Amino acid sequence: MKIFRDYYNNEVKLSFDDHPFSDRPKHVLVICRHQDKWLLTKHKERGLEFPGGKVEIGETAEQAAIREVDEETGGVIKDIHYIGQYYVEGKSDYVIKNVYYARIGKLESKDTYFETYGPVLLREIPENVKYNNRFSFIMKDGVLEYCMGRISNV
Ligand code: GTP
Repeated sequence: MKIFRDYYNNEVKLSFDDHPFSDRPKHVLVICRHQDKWLLTKHKERGLEFPGGKVEIGETAEQAAIREVDEETGGVIKDIHYIGQYYVEGKSDYVIKNVYYARIGKLESKDTYFETYGPVLLREIPENVKYNNRFSFIMKDGVLEYCMGRISNV
């Protein structure tokens, strides 16, 4: 278990065990790889981030991951792997999120990308991501670095 503070100084607990905080998490984050690049989305308020969002009623977390990648990037997933789960103790509530690693088979162009401006392909996540205001706060804590570190083993 890794414990650290996020961009807003909230405590984050991250684990690579099988669903340590909840069997039915309500949020997902999907680290996406397309060809030899990272596939992100540009959220209208938060900036660049890996796609993700809330699990809808009647959906599994993995189904939500597949849907969010489609909605926010047009990416069609070829394969998807559970990486871990994290718990953020917010000011008024908590969030439990599953992290997945997905390889994208193809990118389809969409009429709308919901709350985002759609897909952004990056060869590298910049070293200075924590201080780079193009990037969303969800890319600015240990979740990104630890989970990216695990992906080389997938
Ligand atoms: P809406 O209900 O869509 O308006 O969302 P919300 O802004 O209330 O956000 P959500 O329920 O997704 O998250 C609530 C709070 O949890 C956010 O304001 C963040 O502080 C925190 N949070 C959500 N997702 C993450 C994340 O991936 N990483 C970190 N560090 N904090 C998160």
